[in-house]
Amino acid sequence: MKDSWVKKGFVDEPIDGNIDLVEGIRQLVKEKNAVILAHYYQDADIQDIADFVGDSLDLSRRAADTEAEIIVFAGVHFMAETAKILSPGKKVLIPDQMAGCSLADSCPPDEFASFRKKHPDHMVVTYVNTSAAIKALSDVCCTSTNALQIIQHIPENQKIIFAPDRNLGNYLNSLTGRNMLVWDGACHVHEEFSLEKILLLKNDYPEAKIIAHPECQGPIRVVADFIGSTSALLNFSITDKTRTYIVATESGILHQMKKANPDKLFIPAPPKDSTCACNDCKFMKLNNLKKIYNTLKYEWPEVTVPEDIRVLAEVPIRRMLEWS
Ligand code: 13P
Ligand code: SF4
Repeated sequence: MKDSWVKKGFVDEPIDGNIDLVEGIRQLVKEKNAVILAHYYQDADIQDIADFVGDSLDLSRRAADTEAEIIVFAGVHFMAETAKILSPGKKVLIPDQMAGCSLADSCPPDEFASFRKKHPDHMVVTYVNTSAAIKALSDVCCTSTNALQIIQHIPENQKIIFAPDRNLGNYLNSLTGRNMLVWDGACHVHEEFSLEKILLLKNDYPEAKIIAHPECQGPIRVVADFIGSTSALLNFSITDKTRTYIVATESGILHQMKKANPDKLFIPAPPKDSTCACNDCKFMKLNNLKKIYNTLKYEWPEVTVPEDIRVLAEVPIRRMLEWS
């Protein structure tokens, strides 16, 4: 690998102008026995070339089951790490190494380890949006799809630490009355939605339903007609009879919503700061078709996890898959 690639975090090589990127990617996937897994928050063209598109839970299941030799993870780093933890024998590639996660970053392993030490009688439940090092300190993982199910699986008298998302943790506390100790982390996308602007939109579209991801702040969840993970929001948009929705989660999900419901109107919830596209995850949006082509061609950047951490981190992820 070249120094310039390492500096940028992705393969920055020109692509022959005669190559059709979509065709080129499909050909490399076939030649190399690879699979492309993409999260709903990816750009539409990436979702359309992926072998599988899903939410965090679907993607971890696919990563555990795939027969392919190479997994290209069109998502962010913690998702690719989860794939590597579950499939250590496979090569896991990420189109851009800088595709991190502000939520995962809000839970540094050394601080979390000392927090956990202070509460030795608590079971540790972590959202998958964490580094492998945090998973290695956890008893069970969850995603936004199965979080309630995982918490309800734990005996009522068992004290719980929930990390890292405070909004999801508080939401789960309100649903279960569990009074879990919640880590003070958050995602930069879901923290940014403006209640005021959402209510103004609702004034313009009184028939619209507000649908929100549980990573959103409390006041947004209070006005929401439906709260759910990305796949739950997508399913709701299909089964519900309304025709207009204000969608409070990352804007990438609108692609599948529009595809599944061509006659319905989906309006992305506006962020507080209208000068930026804050409802786009700046990490998810680092990926593009050119980087996917190059990552497949040069088989770099590869995601690895030190074996001692991987073995520990696999336990809570497998437990999550068993419990849900
Ligand atoms: P889900 O995929 O579980 O809906 O989570 C959304 C998210 O923030 C992923 O980064
Ligand atoms: Fe992380 Fe939020 Fe981006 Fe998901 S949307 S990857 S939680 S920063």
